[in-house]
Amino acid sequence: MTDRPRPLVAGNWKMNGLKSSARILGDLQIGYTPGLRSKVDLLVCPPATLIQNFAVLAIGSRIAIGGQDCHAAESGAYTGDISAEMLADMGASYVIVGHSERRTYHREKDADVRAKAEAAHRAGLIAIVCVGESREEREAGKTLAVVRRQLRGSVPEAATAADLVIAYEPVWAIGTGLTPTPSDVAEVHALIRDELRRIVGRADQTKVRILYGGSVKPSNAKELLAVPNVDGALVGGASLVAADFLAIAGAYLV
Ligand code: PGA
Repeated sequence: MTDRPRPLVAGNWKMNGLKSSARILGDLQIGYTPGLRSKVDLLVCPPATLIQNFAVLAIGSRIAIGGQDCHAAESGAYTGDISAEMLADMGASYVIVGHSERRTYHREKDADVRAKAEAAHRAGLIAIVCVGESREEREAGKTLAVVRRQLRGSVPEAATAADLVIAYEPVWAIGTGLTPTPSDVAEVHALIRDELRRIVGRADQTKVRILYGGSVKPSNAKELLAVPNVDGALVGGASLVAADFLAIAGAYLV
């Protein structure tokens, strides 16, 4: 039970970034010093338009590149969509699925998210499955029930500790500057750890990384990343500023 996973700090750029943003990746490569590298994995998920370029630029730096979404099918008549195989082909090694913005704006349900995570695994990608309650659900005391239901519906049955990351992102904390208290985060992450026993088995439940996401900044990273069962962060806004993203990862440099 003591094998804590290696932490992962992941940046979700959302619909931000042009070719010129490669400069941010360059700054991250410079700042990802051997000391930091020895403590934490870094992942950048830029928009799909930049993945191929970023994957090439990141070769040798040990910064992983990932997608923000994928279609469940391998190929076909799905105008505008991108498959997990295409992400892998471009050099991505991770993909985020079930982000609350996808669940809200694209009406993705748990079953859709699970199909996308299965597609990720089919393509050899690590799936970062996002879960999290809305403000109304938290106020109604339904947080744990919602997260449990999302996990049971969104995570593939065949997932393993090697191909699965869970991100707990309370919807009301995303992009708002609001964060749950450390004890609220601890409560949800403990539930997720417990659910992982059912998914990957008792021997591996402690190996799956559980990220916290939602308004993570350099100023709160130390506190949030010190919470039990928090194995890293999924960072939106602050991941667009290299110094901030590095400072968040730097919380692991004790
Ligand atoms: P935020 O976004 O860090 O800007 O709150 C987090 C996310 O949506 O993954």
